Amino acid sequence: MIIKSVSPKHINQIVEIENDSFITPWPKQILADYIKKPGFFCNIAINGRDEEVAGYSISTLIYDEIHVFKIAVSRCHRRKGVAIELLSDTFNFYEKMGALSVILEVRTTNAPAIELYKKLGFEIIRTRKNYYGRGRGDAYVMGLALDRYYQKFLSAT
Ligand SMILES: CC(C)(COP(=O)(O)OP(=O)(O)OC[C@H]1O[C@@H](n2cnc3c(N)ncnc32)[C@H](O)[C@@H]1OP(=O)(O)O)[C@@H](O)C(=O)NCCC(=O)NCCS
Repeated sequence: MIIKSVSPKHINQIVEIENDSFITPWPKQILADYIKKPGFFCNIAINGRDEEVAGYSISTLIYDEIHVFKIAVSRCHRRKGVAIELLSDTFNFYEKMGALSVILEVRTTNAPAIELYKKLGFEIIRTRKNYYGRGRGDAYVMGLALDRYYQKFLSAT
């Protein structure tokens, strides 16, 4: 698996994974805007030489805090460490720019994602009620200090 920066030619594969991964997927135009927006980092995992996109993430840096907006991996590539590779690449990219911490929201019922974040050292900071709309689900705000990630997660792998 190769982790690299996204290019516009990957948008259709990203949209496919997005539509298959989220209850309320972002429309193609919003994804296309984000992947070329200045100040946003979007990386992809590419499988082999056929340029098949296995996963992607979108994030930005606000002061010294990384905000992860999106991460998704296609069903056939899950549980192979792709999400860990994408997030590690993101953390390394922003760490060089002075990032100290990471923050994100995750649906409280999204056990795979919550386990992924906990494995990296994230902790639940608080719950945001009705984050996905009234009656449509709550979110945990999860946070990670990057020094904890570098000391604990990386030293254990
Ligand atoms: C969440 C998601 C990104 C994980 O991607 P992935 O590439 O399969 O994750 P990884 O293989 O890197 O998994 C790393 C760890 O996360 C945890 N994890 C991942 N999927 C899990 C699952 N289905 N059940 C329990 N734990 C899981 C495990 O601790 C795993 O380590 P292990 O395989 O050694 O046990 C993927 O399931 C996905 O795309 N889901 C739909 C989109 C989504 O929910 N995104 C997150 C929005 S906040």
